[in-house]
Amino acid sequence: MPQILDILTCPLCGGTLEGIEKSLVCTGGTKKHNYDVAKEGYVNLLPPGKGKNAHTGDEAEMIRARSRFLQTGAYDGLSDEVSRLIARHISADSVTLVDSGCGEGYHTRRIAVKLRDLHGRRVLCAAFDASKHGAASGAKAAFRETLAPKAGAATPFSGDTSVYFFAGNIFSLPIRDTSCEVAVSMFAPIAWEENRRVLKDGGVLVVAASGRDHLREMREIIYDEVITKSPEILPADGFTLVDRTSVRYTHTLGSAEEIADLFGMTPFCYKTPPEAAKRLLSMKSLAVTVHTEFFVFGKAL
Ligand SMILES: C[S@@+](CC[C@H](N)C(=O)[O-])C[C@H]1O[C@@H](n2cnc3c(N)ncnc32)[C@H](O)[C@@H]1O
Ligand SMILES: [Zn+2]
Repeated sequence: MPQILDILTCPLCGGTLEGIEKSLVCTGGTKKHNYDVAKEGYVNLLPPGKGKNAHTGDEAEMIRARSRFLQTGAYDGLSDEVSRLIARHISADSVTLVDSGCGEGYHTRRIAVKLRDLHGRRVLCAAFDASKHGAASGAKAAFRETLAPKAGAATPFSGDTSVYFFAGNIFSLPIRDTSCEVAVSMFAPIAWEENRRVLKDGGVLVVAASGRDHLREMREIIYDEVITKSPEILPADGFTLVDRTSVRYTHTLGSAEEIADLFGMTPFCYKTPPEAAKRLLSMKSLAVTVHTEFFVFGKAL
């Protein structure tokens, strides 16, 4: 089973990273490239200076809303399905997984735990998000859930399943070529080329995207006209579609807070007219359809 430092690379020069005290130190380039482990346990691997122009990730409040909402278990069926698909398509006992656009990593941690507890796998997971808030929140929870050491990525973790969080750009992943069995992309932009580069031969990319009826009831309250569209994700060069499933169930939002959190974590909250938002936010409960489509793409040889 590889350790996290076996698969990471320096985002500036591609060199090997070593854990020295509370930093990851690049041993590759002529200049010293150092990345400190933040107090929450994540490491910022966004190249210095590039963060300004790059997508800077979801705002802290959106992350908090998503965190509170996901902790209700409303979307657990979605990470259950991703872990089931990984177990179905990957037979290795030890699975190295990269999650691109992990948010605060609720699903990432659940996928790792499900693979361990239900499917008997050991998992090394590296999760990346452009948002430092997301990476920080993920790392704190990974430590609480004994999926990572307190010092984060600088210290090797003795557990057989570990999840490490990084602030990073998924279109330029600081991960070694052909080092992962699995890449995961849930409700995030798909970095096809980078995912292909980091996958081993026989590896899979698992993508989750909102289905046509996802949150239909909420959309009916806030929009005059609801446009429904099924996600059609065609494989980019170097991938073939090997599996496709969907998950659909009804979840009842049981309080105004839960409705506000779900609304606050979706892009709807930016484009809803104030009157419509008020209508939704005055409700005390609402049953919504959770509908997600899953695509498994195999790395073509
Ligand atoms: C809708 S959220 C999904 C989060 C998580 N996968 C989940 O299902 O809860 C999409 C995430 O992608 C991240 N993201 C978008 N572009 C990115 C990029 N270029 N590099 C890293 N993360 C990115 C955002 O910051 C955001 O947290
Ligand atoms: Zn370097």
